[in-house]
Amino acid sequence: MLSELYKLVRPALFQCDAETAHRMTLSLLSTWPLMPPPADPPELGLRLWGREFRNPVGLAAGMDKDAVAVGAWQGLGFGFVELGTVTPEPQRGNPRPRVFRLPADRALINRLGFPSDGMDNVARRIERMRSRGIAIRLGINLGPNKETPVERVAGDYATLVRRMGSLADFIVINVSSPNTPGLRNWQSPERMREIFGAIAAAMGNLAQRPPALIKVAPDLELDDLRRICDTALELKLDGIVAVNTTIAREAIGISSAHGGGLSGAPLRGRAREIIRAIRRYTSGQLTIIGVGGVASADDAWEHIRAGASLVELYTGLIYEGPGVAAEIKRGLVALLKREGFSSISDAVGTGA
Ligand SMILES: Cc1cc2nc3c(=O)[nH]c(=O)nc-3n(C[C@H](O)[C@H](O)[C@H](O)COP(=O)(O)O)c2cc1C
Repeated sequence: MLSELYKLVRPALFQCDAETAHRMTLSLLSTWPLMPPPADPPELGLRLWGREFRNPVGLAAGMDKDAVAVGAWQGLGFGFVELGTVTPEPQRGNPRPRVFRLPADRALINRLGFPSDGMDNVARRIERMRSRGIAIRLGINLGPNKETPVERVAGDYATLVRRMGSLADFIVINVSSPNTPGLRNWQSPERMREIFGAIAAAMGNLAQRPPALIKVAPDLELDDLRRICDTALELKLDGIVAVNTTIAREAIGISSAHGGGLSGAPLRGRAREIIRAIRRYTSGQLTIIGVGGVASADDAWEHIRAGASLVELYTGLIYEGPGVAAEIKRGLVALLKREGFSSISDAVGTGA
């Protein structure tokens, strides 16, 4: 029903610049009242980090950076949403235009550069939602301000954790957006130790310590990915979000000249390869959130079989519309039954 409606609305939305369409949609969704979520079949539920997730289908970071439409994500049936990227201070991001559609490829390119209302504004919004009671799980994705000098980047993450950590069901340390100069260098073991050391100290003062994950780029060499996995195990991280957008173009059949990170269908194969590699390198000891190119139940299923316990999407929502989470969930129930699994957890990594 929602998908049929969206097919009618989408051509008009696609007439607008991509960011304008995003703003209009988000402002409409922000009026969505907070209501109980649609019921989910029990076989879709799973327990991670001592928390129940109603279903494994989440909204990826970047769609609702400032936590303005949590009621809508809950109403549309997402089991969780990764809010952010949130920066300590408010910042505007890069000049527009900075988001581009590639409809024939079912892809997007963005070079937003973390526009953010800043942690205090976003935290206050989340506090208001939490005080009203929400069923959806909230991840918060954290990143440094653009102007922060390299010696203070770990301090930015610690500041964010101090302010927002106790509001999150999990936090994600974003060191993989291609649009903040130098950010991806923080994927090295030494820099990871620096960040997570600073965060561990900040967590000490929190009433509730949220699980901490790192979000990685799809453009890593496998040797570097292995080092990240070893370091994640050494630091006892709670998981890895794989993957962020890619700077690859020809290698994945894209000829667009727009600079920035590419998401959507052309990223799917690489995302799956990285998920599978993480599962192998960590012997299944780390929880993986799989993201990249998911637009259908089959896509989500293959990420789960590669090793993801939860899946997320962003670009799939733009092309498939607001019914996408419900459709993926319906399809996952059918796939579980067809393949003889009694729950999502049983299927995780079975195709690795
Ligand atoms: C317009 C746009 C903005 C994004 N902003 C963020 C962000 O702020 N932080 C982040 O970690 N990822 C961000 N992402 C990346 C997504 O979270 C996701 O990792 C990536 O798009 C791959 O998933 P998809 O193919 O389902 O879109 C953004 C993606 C898009 C398309």
